[in-house]
Order: sequence, then structure tokens, then C-alpha cells
Amino acid sequence: PTGLTAKFQSKGKKFWGSAADPNTLSKPGVVDILQREFGQVTPEYSMKWDATEPSRGVYNFDQSDQLVNWAVSNGKLIRAHTFVWHSSLPSWVQGINDHDTLTNVIANHVGALAGHFKGKVYCNISNGLSRFQWDVVNEVLNDDGTLRDSVFSRVLGESFIPLAFKVARDVDPGAVRYINDYSLEWDSPKTRAMVDLVNRINANDGSQMIQGIGSQMHLEPGKTGGALSALQILAGANVQEIAITELDIEFASPDDYKTILSACLQVSKCVSITSWGVSDTDSWRASFTPLLFDGNYNPKQAYHDVIGAM
Ligand code: XIL
Repeated sequence: PTGLTAKFQSKGKKFWGSAADPNTLSKPGVVDILQREFGQVTPEYSMKWDATEPSRGVYNFDQSDQLVNWAVSNGKLIRAHTFVWHSSLPSWVQGINDHDTLTNVIANHVGALAGHFKGKVYCNISNGLSRFQWDVVNEVLNDDGTLRDSVFSRVLGESFIPLAFKVARDVDPGAVRYINDYSLEWDSPKTRAMVDLVNRINANDGSQMIQGIGSQMHLEPGKTGGALSALQILAGANVQEIAITELDIEFASPDDYKTILSACLQVSKCVSITSWGVSDTDSWRASFTPLLFDGNYNPKQAYHDVIGAM
């Protein structure tokens, strides 16, 4: 590997990745940068419930397979995202109010996706990594640390979380199982509640059912000062690794990007960084120009400063 991911690996980290999907993979400027700079891709939308099981028991992997096949043929690791999320969730799931029905629906969805991609995406890349990471559940906590209100929590309480992790482990024990969330970028009630949640679920299971914590890091400018302590708090949980999973920083100040890089470098359990996209043009928050490459696919000052800091 070359570029960001090679430099990051020279510091003992696993990869620096980026979100992508068939829409961005159709842009030569994006593909050139993905191939040169990034060692991992995350499906920005194509593995979400809306995209993969639009109606009960009817699965559609067309878009997600395009991303996965590109990653495998280009030797990229994949952070699969995400089995269970309250957003991008079809209305047929949102309308379920029966405990056993929702339990079966979640188990079938997780089992179908984990089974579909198992083995298909184990790809050996240069640093020997062959493991597939799943964001098993996404954004389950409120900022005050309580469980977010969703069809999952309303009908099943917290139990939907170990349910999803158990099925993921049973179907694809080789993948690394993450819980992923945002606003975990400073010493906040949510950051501490995430650690408590992970430790509680792992203790109840008697094993590391949850193996990783993903901190999305969709950041505002000047709000990066708490990142090191947040990563240290998350690393204190009973997990094997943590990761920065959706990094973008409004207006992309080089100092902010260097602060986040430094925070991950200082925390040994922080194994990877994934940017939430390549070019500002394709960002879900394009008007904030939050990424490392501009609309002409040229590296920005933040890219040069990050490369220079490794
Ligand atoms: C966003 C994508 O960037 C959009 O393209 C899509 O329409 C909706 O989802 N937290 C997450 C990501 O975990 O999945 C979200 O991605 C951004 C917030």
C-alpha cells in the first residue's frame, strides 16, 4: 500500500480507509485516490437495511456486492456498515411492535448479511490482515448516555444489542464485531456510557461479544481537543480494539486533522482511521468541505500536514 495507509501502517496501525459506494466508485478521480491512498473501504449506504432488505425476507445485494467486489479485487479491507441502525430503516421494520417478530426479523437480517458476505470478503492484503469488520449496531445511545428511542429499544429494550452481536458471531466468527457511534470525541456522559454498555454486555456474555468500539468523529472545527482523552476512555473498555470510523472535520483545518491523528497514534488500541469519503464534492456534508481531497481530487493542506506528521 502507498500514501496515507502506508504511512499509517509504518506507525503500527492497520489501515487508513474511506467510505465509498458504487456512485463514487464510478468516478476515476475517486478510484485513483482510493487505490493509492486508502487500505480499506466502508459502504456509505449500500449495506444499510433500506438498501439490503427493502421488504421482509427480500434481500438485495447488487450495490453492496459492487463495493465488495471492487475492494476484494483491489486488495482493500472492508468495514461493513451496518446491521442494525435506527436510520435508513425500512418502514416495515419500524412498524413492528411484537417482541418475537422483531427478534426473528433482526436475527434473520443479521444472519443473511453476515452469511452473504462471509468468506466473500476475506482478502489477504499486504500486512496480513484478512479480517472483515462489522459495525454490528450503530448509534444506540443518546448524548446523555441513555438508550436511544427506536423500534429496537422500544420493543426489546437493550437486548437487541446482544441479540445482533450473538447472531453475527455465530454466523461469521472470523469478523471483528464493533459497536459504532458519534459524539464519542470528548470525555462525555455518552463516552462513559458506551464503555459501561460494552462492559455490561461482554460481562453478561462471559466473553468479548463486542470486540471493538467505533468512534465516528464527524467533527466541528476546533472541537478536537478532547479526542485523546476520549480514545483513552474507550480503550479502557473490555475490547480488543477501537477505531475512528467516519472522520470528517468541518473546514478541515490541518491542526484539527493532526490532533486526531496524534490522538490515535498515542492510543495503542486505536487500530485504524476511516475518512467518511475522499473528495469534498461527494461528502454528505459537502458544504463544510470536511475531507482531505478537494472537488478536483487534489490533496488539501490537511492531507499534506497529516502525511508529514507520520
Ligand atoms: C450517511 C451517508 O453519508 C449518507 O450518504 C446516507 O444517505 C445516510 O447515511 N452516521 C453514520 C453513517 O453511521 O452511516 C451516516 O452516513 C452518517 C452518520
